[in-house]
Amino acid sequence: MSSEVLWPFIPSPNPTSIAGAQGAYLHMSDGRKVLDAAGGAIVTNIGHGRKDVAAAMAAAAENCTYAVPPWLTPEREALLQELTEHWLPDHLPCVHLSSGGSESNEAAIKIATQFQAAMGRPEKQIVLARSLSYHGTTIQMAGVSGHQSRKRGLESLINEVPRIDTPYPLRCPLGPHHPDATEYYLKNLEDTIESIGAENIAALIAEPLNGSSAGAITPPEGYWPRAQEILRRHEILLIMDEVMTGFGRTGERFGSELYGLEPDLLVAGKGMAGGYAAISGTYGRKEIADVIGNAGFNIMFHTFGALPLSCAASTKVLQILREEDMLSRVKTMGSQLFDALNEKLGQHPNVAEIRGEGLLLGIELVKDRETLEKFDEDERVTERVVGKAMEEGVFFYPGGTGVARDIICIGAPFIIGEAEVDLMVNALDKALAQL
Ligand SMILES: Cc1ncc(COP(=O)(O)O)c(C=O)c1O
Repeated sequence: MSSEVLWPFIPSPNPTSIAGAQGAYLHMSDGRKVLDAAGGAIVTNIGHGRKDVAAAMAAAAENCTYAVPPWLTPEREALLQELTEHWLPDHLPCVHLSSGGSESNEAAIKIATQFQAAMGRPEKQIVLARSLSYHGTTIQMAGVSGHQSRKRGLESLINEVPRIDTPYPLRCPLGPHHPDATEYYLKNLEDTIESIGAENIAALIAEPLNGSSAGAITPPEGYWPRAQEILRRHEILLIMDEVMTGFGRTGERFGSELYGLEPDLLVAGKGMAGGYAAISGTYGRKEIADVIGNAGFNIMFHTFGALPLSCAASTKVLQILREEDMLSRVKTMGSQLFDALNEKLGQHPNVAEIRGEGLLLGIELVKDRETLEKFDEDERVTERVVGKAMEEGVFFYPGGTGVARDIICIGAPFIIGEAEVDLMVNALDKALAQL
């Protein structure tokens, strides 16, 4: 590559280059094979290099290069049929497509605000978010995200939003995994709503379980259904950000189904096309669309939302997930991996917790597992562990928000087998030895 070009924008001290990727493996430019236990950025759900997906994309590119997003094309119709027949919860038939999670979350926030205005509640404008969270990288979504390290230097630009505590059973202020954790976090939600005034709040945006922001933290028993009741009572919409958890990553179609939730708006991207194309969706209740439509409000599209080629890629990926019964595989391999990690590393002096659902797992590392004292940020523990594991032939995803640390995330493709489970456990074991 020309020495004039700098890539990425701020060059990395450890430049990484891959020649290609197949199945669950990255083929490094230096000839090594590395297991992609992160699925890229927790995206490549069906694995790399499927020729049937590439063929579907090529056919779409030949058939219809581009059409404005609101029009139907055969590729869009096929995707809408796949989504409504097999994936979307029955109460969410309305679909708006964008190119990535940040755009789709912004669309959800706009839709929620327009809905409240159209309902004659224009003062309901505040979007509540959670203390540890990630919803995207546009200026608006960076403000909504509870992700400190991704906002540094942007403070003057960003509008922060009010936050509730992300339920974090391990670090519940009442004590680790305290039996009253659910009550504690529900009270925090009620108190926050009361202090802001429900009449000012349009929606809560939240991940059903955290993605990489805080490493697959799952809520305490019974939290979500009761939180949803509280929101409904106050006419606050629930936006579930399933950009990372959607389309099978947890073993269910959507993470919200793990908790019996019925979000008003659901956002899902990443695995929607398994990395083959840039596509992401905002899905909503019919009443919401009717109310906004009747008020004469417009939901503007992005030029590349619903690109026919992306729709074709997504349709094929979603069909593969179904026809090859990959969600069952997520459950089986996820629990095998969880058990194997626990067996080998569950008692490691620097492992505070191994958690998650399906093939979205997080391993929280601490200086002292008794007190849960964290390593200093300057020690860059996550970075060092991920770097060492890479040398051992496995790419894990670095998690955490700066405040929440040090967290190693696993978001492996759904096609992994026992050999890959062994590889991950052994690589992580070796990488932790340096601590
Ligand atoms: C939960 C969640 N929401 C939103 C996003 C942002 O999506 P994108 O990077 O496609 O804009 C991400 C990306 O990691 C995510 O994990």
